[in-house]
Amino acid sequence: MSTKRIAPSILAADFANLQRDIEMVNQSEADWFHIDIMDGVFVPNISFGMPVLKAINKHATKTIDVHLMIVDPDRYIQTFADLGADVLTVHYEACTHLHRTLQAIKAAGMKAGVALNPHTNVNLLEDVINDIDLVCIMSVNPGFGGQSFIENTYQKVKKLKALITEKGAATEIEIDGGVNDKNAKALVDAGADVLVAGSFVFRSENPTATIQNLKKIVS
Ligand code: DX5
Ligand code: ZN
Repeated sequence: MSTKRIAPSILAADFANLQRDIEMVNQSEADWFHIDIMDGVFVPNISFGMPVLKAINKHATKTIDVHLMIVDPDRYIQTFADLGADVLTVHYEACTHLHRTLQAIKAAGMKAGVALNPHTNVNLLEDVINDIDLVCIMSVNPGFGGQSFIENTYQKVKKLKALITEKGAATEIEIDGGVNDKNAKALVDAGADVLVAGSFVFRSENPTATIQNLKKIVS
């Protein structure tokens, strides 16, 4: 059985029918909820914040994977723990003291993730990889759903997988942005463990079947 995971991104859900879309994910073969928090400073978009996450957590029955696209994320680590985040991912580019931030996330009882923008070299994580539970490789520039997948991602995944193996780390690899049924298999073959999918799931005619199909592709 495959341990590869599918994480629908709630950014692409219908916010006027949020409970319906959360229940759909609960009932589907999806593994995680991917929650994008954007501050309008680190990325050129503002998504949603604490009250919405609180509402999601009330209904979601699966792992809550929070992707912080915000500056100075240290300010909110405890807040996100209290709101029910299971995995908390910060951006490499937003953390001056990444090692300290990772320890703080773990001390608050969550798994610690680091996201890399498309221009950020995976080797920059060499000295901290053993402290990271999840590396999120951005396969689009963060800020918006529905963008096209950057092809250079495959070589980044392979390079990161080699680094994880070399260091004997237990780090998982997540891919975020432009994931669909055309690139899912190649991403998993390159070493990915978790695939985030927003538009591809929620803009499809039958999101439950789309998740099932993605799950089948990565098995
Ligand atoms: C982009 C977000 C992604 C986004 C993915 O900044 O981090 O999680 O929701 O959406 P799609 O799958 O539509 O590219
Ligand atoms: Zn994301």
